[in-house]
Amino acid sequence: MSISSSKNLHSAKLNKKDEFYTQLTDIEKEVGHYKKHFKNKIVLCNCDDPTVSNFFHYFAYNFEKLGLKQLITTSYKSNTPDLFSQNSEESAIKLIYNGDKNGDKIPNPEEIGIIRLKGDGDFRSAESIEVLKKADIVVTNPPFSLFREYIAQIIDYKKKFLIIGNLNAITYKEVFKLIEKRKVWLGYSIRSGDREFGVPHDYPLKAAGYRVDEDGNKFIRVKGVRWFTNLDYKERHEDIYLYKKFNKKEFPKYDNYDAINVNVTKDIPSDYKGVMGVPITFLDRYNPDQFEILGLSQKTGFGLKSNKFYDKFKEIRNDGSKTGSSGKKTNGNPVMRGKSNKGNYFSDGRTNVHSLYARIFIRKK
Ligand SMILES: C[S@@+](CC[C@H](N)C(=O)[O-])C[C@H]1O[C@@H](n2cnc3c(N)ncnc32)[C@H](O)[C@@H]1O
Repeated sequence: MSISSSKNLHSAKLNKKDEFYTQLTDIEKEVGHYKKHFKNKIVLCNCDDPTVSNFFHYFAYNFEKLGLKQLITTSYKSNTPDLFSQNSEESAIKLIYNGDKNGDKIPNPEEIGIIRLKGDGDFRSAESIEVLKKADIVVTNPPFSLFREYIAQIIDYKKKFLIIGNLNAITYKEVFKLIEKRKVWLGYSIRSGDREFGVPHDYPLKAAGYRVDEDGNKFIRVKGVRWFTNLDYKERHEDIYLYKKFNKKEFPKYDNYDAINVNVTKDIPSDYKGVMGVPITFLDRYNPDQFEILGLSQKTGFGLKSNKFYDKFKEIRNDGSKTGSSGKKTNGNPVMRGKSNKGNYFSDGRTNVHSLYARIFIRKK
């Protein structure tokens, strides 16, 4: 396959992933938790074909309940009321809803202003940025492949936001820095498991956990989904209850970081004053009044610097055979002394080490 056609295939795959449609119940559960933030606010959904988006649906039908000032929704390369936006049109539309006028408490077509945009509705375009400037709170599920740019833009324009992303996005430099500086945190309603999303009709459903409803609409379950926000809520200020005491055996130090390893957030020792490495799911329960975040293990190319490198080590399978890879591949990971229980490990002939998943480094306040 030529480089360009393989690139096309890759970007087609990414585009497919970008077409995951959020379910109404997930929006209700999250937004309903922040009611006081929405009073008298202009809400923008800017990655949302208004004719199909559940975000538009939710805010239009709950306009009065939330006390909104205005709802603006823009589509991307789509101006037809097709069930799943295939991004086939070059233009896009903007919908403006100022609430119920005729007293039936339902958003009627004559109450919704439809304006054709000059461009394709790309959230980065000058035209879309002008719309963004008018908004108070941005709420959507942006395209996964553009998550970094998306969040950077709303922060640049100092907007409040509530958006869906993948937990992995935490390990992006741009996103982690925002979390570290307490400019972004995880939302309230999704802390584990998977969530169902609508997908286009031509989406290849090979994965486990897909569903087709009686009308032929396809759905897929996606793991690691989270809300990312800068809207405060009281539960994020509740302490994680810590019941364990520190002991060296259960919480050994890393071989390459000056910190102890904690495998599960609930096991964080209550009496340890130094730096601790915790799984990234710690952020699901992170209370900024209880802990300070100091960094991330550096495998992603940034984060706390590790003080040891494994270039002279060889990777070894659990059965003792060599994989042929050097220890370079584990540089920056959180590394423990000894062989791993199940997976591969690394050895220089004298010392054995194994690596763990990414860790966030924290310290008790
Ligand atoms: C993950 S889907 C979510 C759609 C909708 N927000 C929802 O949750 O149901 C992301 C949407 O962003 C649109 N999109 C892709 N690139 C975009 C861009 N550059 N600017 C604005 N929207 C974009 C896609 O067409 C897609 O409909």
